[in-house]
Amino acid sequence: PVLVVDFGAQYAQLIARRVREAKVYSEIVPHTWSVEQMLAKDPAAIILSGGPSSVYAQGAPFVDPALFEAGVPVMGICYGFQAMAQALGGEVAQTGRREYGGTEVEVCEAGVLLSGTPDHQTTWMSHGDAVHRAPEGFEVLATSSGSPVAAFEDKGRRLFGVQWHPEVKHSAHGQTVLEHFLYDGAGLSPDWTASNVVADQVAAIRSQVGDARVICGLSGGVDSSVAAALVQKAVGDQLTCVFVDHGLLREGEVEQVERDFVDATGVNLVIRDEKERFLTALAGHTDPETKRKIIGREFIRAFEDAAREIVEAAGDDGGEVKFLVQGTLYPDVVESGGGEGAANIKSHHNVGGLPDDLQFELVEPLRTLFKDEVRAVGLELGVPEVIVWRQPFPGPGLGIRIIGEVTAERLDTLRAADAIAREELTKAGLDREIWQCPVVLLADVRSVGVQGDGRTYGHPVVLRPVSSEDAMTADWTRLPYDVLSTISTRITNEVADVNRVTLDVTSKPPATIEWE
Ligand code: XMP
Repeated sequence: PVLVVDFGAQYAQLIARRVREAKVYSEIVPHTWSVEQMLAKDPAAIILSGGPSSVYAQGAPFVDPALFEAGVPVMGICYGFQAMAQALGGEVAQTGRREYGGTEVEVCEAGVLLSGTPDHQTTWMSHGDAVHRAPEGFEVLATSSGSPVAAFEDKGRRLFGVQWHPEVKHSAHGQTVLEHFLYDGAGLSPDWTASNVVADQVAAIRSQVGDARVICGLSGGVDSSVAAALVQKAVGDQLTCVFVDHGLLREGEVEQVERDFVDATGVNLVIRDEKERFLTALAGHTDPETKRKIIGREFIRAFEDAAREIVEAAGDDGGEVKFLVQGTLYPDVVESGGGEGAANIKSHHNVGGLPDDLQFELVEPLRTLFKDEVRAVGLELGVPEVIVWRQPFPGPGLGIRIIGEVTAERLDTLRAADAIAREELTKAGLDREIWQCPVVLLADVRSVGVQGDGRTYGHPVVLRPVSSEDAMTADWTRLPYDVLSTISTRITNEVADVNRVTLDVTSKPPATIEWE
């Protein structure tokens, strides 16, 4: 892989994505890793990301000069560029001056990195210190008013660096610069494609699973469907998909899974009605993390029951169900604190919420992929487009969209409101434009309204339409007023108990997409 060394800013994610957009596989590793740990991954190239620090700050992450002796091509970006300059004997000055936002750089020598790009170009900068002198053996490629050395390279040693952020779209030729590094600097080929991912994962699944039985929790969403399709391709009938109807589903969801997915793939599917189990377990709980953990735990218990019944029903000696497939994605891993050093923001039920006494070994074929990559893999596998383009829906379902205790009655209310919002958004042709639009029931809040001739004292629901590339960051979607108006009128007219519709206009960060 290409390793993206994370110096603690949010840029590492973006760099990893851009490298993959160049069809080269990348992984994020923490800067606390030693050079030996990094080299043990046999990296094809290493990119040092930006970070929040000054190389002069106390405890600033440091780059071991040994990294540059290993013969692996390295590119430093922003903080990574400065840390690289310093480690190799260049001069980094504390200028006390910041360059921030769109910044013009002047190319003095195109070299490998800037070849074919204009002499003057706009780049996106965000730094305080500046490189004043390049290390010995390096050629200076560009300068800006605040950075005497804004880009450099040592072609022979295959070491490169830029002060700006090529991964940010505001850098006019950013992707080109990254690709020059990957293809021309590091000699890599753009061969990481969906069909290679499928081939690699199929081989990996076969070697992990052998001839054991596998179950997959199917939710009807993109991730679990693509994971199931991959595992089915790898081990065929050893796989049984289990759809747990936890009662926290949206309207029509069970029927949709049966119709769209099973018809297309022909997988073995078992549907379990577990509504009572989940309602009972959730009764009395209002804390979001507790609710998530309960749902995660009950899922696993339901799978264990399903596994036992599958073995009984088979009545042969094919053995126990040893493996559980999960559609865990790369951002889930990173956000659940799996990317070392990252904060645990919330327990995604398929990562952080697993019970300690889990009886299955996990198969997670999507663990290294971003959502758009999962979609490409799904299409490659022939998963129907209605599923591949389905908007995300969280595993804990409506359970984390009822703010307060989850009850059967509240679920009915939220389900009805959600169905109306979805129907109207689809009718308006907005499904592809929005990433998803959770509808949230503020079950412990009441407000006064007037309907017909009478006073009402009902609950508000919140519409949370968001646009996003990968759910790591999101903005609220500016939905047309007439669509909002129709949704509001219909929900307040058609859903008893709801007398107010509100709109969430917060981006992520600082909010998350879901309310819990
Ligand atoms: P947040 O709320 O963290 O959501 O901004 C990011 C994306 O993840 C979905 N989500 C989940 N998906 N299990 C899932 O499978 C979960 O526990 C979970 N929590 C949030 C959310 O819908 C959004 O798309």
